[in-house]
Amino acid sequence: MKLLLPLLAISSLASAQLSGKVGPTTSHATKTARKVCNITSYGAKPGKTGDIGPAMTEAFNACKNGGTIVIPSGDWGLRTWVNMQNGKGFAIQWDGVIHRTGDAGGNMLLVQKSDDVEIFSSTGKGAFQGNGYEFHRKGSITGPRILRFVRTTNFAVHDVLLIDAPSFHFSMDTCKNGEVYNMVIKGAYQGGLDGIDVWSDNIHIHDVMVSNKDECVTVKSPAHNILVENIYCNWSGGSAFGSLGEGVDIANVIYRNVYTIQSNQMMMIKSRGGSGSVSNVLFENFIGHSNAYSLDIDQNWSPMKSHPGPGVGLRNITFKNWKGTCANGVQRPPIKIICSDDKPCVGIHIVDFAMWTDSGSSVQYQCKSAYGSGGCLKSGSGGAYATTSKTISSPPAGYNAVRMPGDLKTSTGTKEPIAIPQMPSSFFPGKSPLKALAAGGAGGRLVELFNDVDEGFIES
Ligand SMILES: *[C@@H]1O[C@H](CO)[C@@H](O)[C@H](O)[C@H]1NC(C)=O
Ligand SMILES: *[C@@H]1O[C@H](CO)[C@@H](O)[C@H](O)[C@H]1NC(C)=O
Ligand SMILES: *[C@@H]1O[C@H](CO)[C@@H](O)[C@H](O)[C@H]1NC(C)=O
Repeated sequence: MKLLLPLLAISSLASAQLSGKVGPTTSHATKTARKVCNITSYGAKPGKTGDIGPAMTEAFNACKNGGTIVIPSGDWGLRTWVNMQNGKGFAIQWDGVIHRTGDAGGNMLLVQKSDDVEIFSSTGKGAFQGNGYEFHRKGSITGPRILRFVRTTNFAVHDVLLIDAPSFHFSMDTCKNGEVYNMVIKGAYQGGLDGIDVWSDNIHIHDVMVSNKDECVTVKSPAHNILVENIYCNWSGGSAFGSLGEGVDIANVIYRNVYTIQSNQMMMIKSRGGSGSVSNVLFENFIGHSNAYSLDIDQNWSPMKSHPGPGVGLRNITFKNWKGTCANGVQRPPIKIICSDDKPCVGIHIVDFAMWTDSGSSVQYQCKSAYGSGGCLKSGSGGAYATTSKTISSPPAGYNAVRMPGDLKTSTGTKEPIAIPQMPSSFFPGKSPLKALAAGGAGGRLVELFNDVDEGFIES
């Protein structure tokens, strides 16, 4: 019972950012009590090389108006993709490992226009083995994506592992009231293999680890009321907003407790030309180690094609309590804020920023057409100005941030199979997952290592 109070405190904090309740409206226990559609009752045969696609589709059709589809533990093959649409009140209890065997493009698991949905593993061992290396070693990233939610409301996805997607791992497109948590995504070390991409309303994403070389947890447009907490980018591309084009509409986003190692950036907002706005955003409690960029706003991002418009208006964006190191703080400044000359950024605030460099003995900050406070920002508001830089030649106090014990030492490469890892017991130094890991997960050991300040989350 000691457990209840801190959890309540967390959910009330969370709801201040979110616009309402997230997650399924009825529990999976209620759904299971109503009806169980076990894929083995619809013809699924065990083994890595078969095809449970047709059985899953039949199980879905039988349970989509109330019930739980069960993928039992063990290995299952998937050659044909599963399109789940117009469901209401269904769950998928995903305890087995699904191995991709088919080659078609598209989305392997697609949930569309559904309401009150929960996809979860009761053991924390439900996994998707995408075998993306079979595409990547041929130089292709155009294979299928693992999981996509479209126009779906009141849902949760949790305690599952998405491994080695041929293309993207998990996207949420125009959804509402979702919760994603206790998730591991591990892809190959190359671009085009995004972790989580979200453009939706009222979504809480927490306790997620991503290894890849592209988006970790990234917000696209349009998106409102997004709360992202306890994120471990364990050798990734890093998290971002973007790429942003015309008519951008992103507001009320908080990222809190984000640990990023060996990535391209800790957080980037990327666009080139375009229009619309990004406003009311907080990036708080970030730890970085050995990333190329750290805080990176680039409104003239050269890999993008230029979009019509003056630039995306960025306003009221705060970066608070950032610690750690970047790889080389002169080559790639830990604060880089390059705004559009035709649409300068306003209300950018950098507070309690202590980032140092792995190599060299100074770091630079770079700002262009950007207003606010901290870093190299000009105060007030006004017109365009050319890039100004500021050199910091001694390590800022308190930059030396704690490390996660499980940091990946080398990249995953692109040519070999990727083994399914265990769910970590913590996704940010000193933080227990906001919701208990399925089947207790790996336990509280890692958390204790950090001498957790939020004692009381784990009772053992
Ligand atoms: C699903 O069916 C398999 C095979 O009959 C069985 O082993 C498993 O226990 C069933 N799972 C559930 C949750 O009913
Ligand atoms: C600025 O953004 C923060 C974070 O979303 C929000 O709490 C605050 O109300 C915003 N301020 C204004 C003036 O809109
Ligand atoms: C980070 O990734 C590496 C490589 O997969 C893994 O060994 C390590 O356990 C991961 N970290 C955690 C906390 O799981």
